[in-house]
Amino acid sequence: MDLIAGVGGRSFNIFCASIGLLLLYRLLLRLRSGTSLQDAVVVITGASSGLGKECAQVFYSAGARLVLCGRDGSRLQQVVQEISSKSPQTQSSKHRHTPKMVVFDLAETNAVGRAAEEILACYGHVDVLINNAGISYRGNILDTQLSVQRDVMETNYFGPVALTQALLPSMVQRRSGHVVVISSVQGKIAIPYRSAYAASKHATQAYFDCLRAEIEQYKIPVTVISPGYIRTNLSVNAVTGDGTKYGVLDKTTATGWEPRDVALAVLRAVSLKSKDVVLAGPAPTLAIYLRTLWPALFFKLMSSRARKEQKHKIE
Ligand SMILES: NC(=O)c1ccc[n+]([C@@H]2O[C@H](COP(=O)([O-])OP(=O)(O)OC[C@H]3O[C@@H](n4cnc5c(N)ncnc54)[C@H](OP(=O)(O)O)[C@@H]3O)[C@@H](O)[C@H]2O)c1
Repeated sequence: MDLIAGVGGRSFNIFCASIGLLLLYRLLLRLRSGTSLQDAVVVITGASSGLGKECAQVFYSAGARLVLCGRDGSRLQQVVQEISSKSPQTQSSKHRHTPKMVVFDLAETNAVGRAAEEILACYGHVDVLINNAGISYRGNILDTQLSVQRDVMETNYFGPVALTQALLPSMVQRRSGHVVVISSVQGKIAIPYRSAYAASKHATQAYFDCLRAEIEQYKIPVTVISPGYIRTNLSVNAVTGDGTKYGVLDKTTATGWEPRDVALAVLRAVSLKSKDVVLAGPAPTLAIYLRTLWPALFFKLMSSRARKEQKHKIE
């Protein structure tokens, strides 16, 4: 009996010590100060709204020299005014820089090459490229035009790929830089009626995973960030199977994470040079593990979800 109690007591002590070490490790990670972003040249695509706009705000406040990208110059100009008035110089010791703007459409491959030249002309180099711009999709595969599948891929996959490849040579030459991409939980699991979006984000994850391995030797980190739902206009701006705008703020999006919280997590991931970050609650995180560890159950759950959504549409 004593022997059993002794073994049980030792196991309990080892268990407590392991939990203590784990908590200490997490605390140390939190306290790690990371790289300073003061004066760093940070390029943000899709800076005109949602997460991109919040990223612009938090990187501006950190003292970065911003190059904001979007399709609409006047909306970008509005963002520049908003972020400068929200964080006046006097509020912190950080030196703030008025953001520069480069206007182009990521879905136009020729425009991306020219835009990369304009971006480089701003400060001569790029320290951090944040590929954030993106578009979502809602639709049934059976009713979706192939052109829509291609268009979503152009913006979410080929756009960031083209911009990254155009800016990489300068980073490699300097042996310095950092490539970030905002993917999605849907880059790790595919959910029904989101085919074009999920496919584009899976492709994004794969490309940037390859890139990370290939350019580590040049001291250029690659960070893939996969958020769950964020409270932005992404679903409103989503395209449907025939290319028209979806125009609805989905409940999942409306009750999603605050864009500012996600932007702060992006800032943290950049300063810590994290490789792969999932920003989601327990259910999506569990689903990501299920997809790998118990795919049969994952597929069953997704089929049931598809049936429910279909029924909901018919009713
Ligand atoms: N919201 C979510 O629930 C959620 C979840 C996971 C991941 N994400 C990802 O987060 C990123 C930001 O999305 P958001 O939620 O902030 O949505 P959003 O408010 O709709 O912002 C999307 C941004 O992308 C830009 N954009 C779209 N198409 C473009 C194109 N062809 N060329 C250049 N810029 C283009 C838009 O600029 P314009 O002003 O020119 O339209 C806008 O600034 C996306 O990559 C999205 O996939 C969002």
